[in-house]
Amino acid sequence: MFTHKPIRRFITLGQFIIERQTDFPFAKGELSRLLRDIGIAAKLVNREVNKAGLADILGDMGETNVQGEDQKKLDVYANEQFINALRSGGECMAIASEENEDLIDIDSAVSKDAKYVVCMDPLDGSSNIDVNVNIGTIFSIYRRPEHISGPTTIDDFMQKGVEQVAAGYVIYGSSTMLVYTTGKGVNGFTLDPSIGEFCLSHPDMMMPKDGAIYSLNEGNHLHFPDGVKKYVKYCQEIDKSTNRPYSSRYIGSLVADFHRNLIKGGIYIYPSTHKSPKGKLRLLYECNPLAFIAEQAGGKASDGFNRILELQPTSLHQRTPLYIGSVNMVDKAEEMMRVYSAETANQ
Ligand code: AHG
Ligand code: MN
Ligand code: MN
Repeated sequence: MFTHKPIRRFITLGQFIIERQTDFPFAKGELSRLLRDIGIAAKLVNREVNKAGLADILGDMGETNVQGEDQKKLDVYANEQFINALRSGGECMAIASEENEDLIDIDSAVSKDAKYVVCMDPLDGSSNIDVNVNIGTIFSIYRRPEHISGPTTIDDFMQKGVEQVAAGYVIYGSSTMLVYTTGKGVNGFTLDPSIGEFCLSHPDMMMPKDGAIYSLNEGNHLHFPDGVKKYVKYCQEIDKSTNRPYSSRYIGSLVADFHRNLIKGGIYIYPSTHKSPKGKLRLLYECNPLAFIAEQAGGKASDGFNRILELQPTSLHQRTPLYIGSVNMVDKAEEMMRVYSAETANQ
């Protein structure tokens, strides 16, 4: 006998964005189109990442970027794809990218009424590209402040993280996912390669309040502030009531470490070190977007003392220490910083 199985309804990223359009602070479809453009670029980058071992796309460009870091071919490719998608989409007036020293002004006919600026790390975790380990893209979207008019200036970007209207990341991994928030919770979409669409797979993502994973580069231990050294010791102590010792997991791709901790619970720390007193990670296109997502999922993000989203940016590529993840774990790390490293608070 023929029986009807219920048909599972796939919700694609495009459908979801349209259904949720009224959630957006300015529900005119512009932000929806921006997110759509980012989704398209993510698919193009995913295609290259997937065949990275085959094509001539592994390895170094032989150039360094503004941070003095070696650029990989995929860093450059991803940067170009996201810039092109945002340029031709018509909603983005300017971009700040890890790979470009200055802001990229989009001065095209289709963008003449654009009101949004985008900050992005087009390829996060570049050191993992050549070894087939997860990498990602991080993005953050702001609306131009009301009081600014005329050509784009750096002031369009000097907005605190609390002003973000949307933020997200793409993780290119065993499957490829796009996770984003517009300030009404966090939703995750998995790319179905058979239909070439991101489909809603992780609705209303919430980060566990506690976790049992800590993620930081312990090779830098001798250079950590005392508060971080004490917190790592705390993570390693035996205490059944709090599930300790915790497991140490560090991929070296912020997106991937964050994504795992978002789902399982955990904390990621990139503190100030003696070598890098401001830490390594960049406020505008690494810390702020992930902080927005963490908070929307019930987690927390701090520089060890202050909320990341309230830090005032003063330059496009500024760095900040980052403590991000399950709220109770970040609270504990902050407590250790206050007690043992108060002197580093305003460095
Ligand atoms: P990017 O590849 O965009 O330069 O970012 C690398 C970042 C981040 O993804 C990662 O967590 C961190 O650098 C790793 O740094 P260490 O190698 O110093 O641990
Ligand atoms: Mn990065
Ligand atoms: Mn990068």
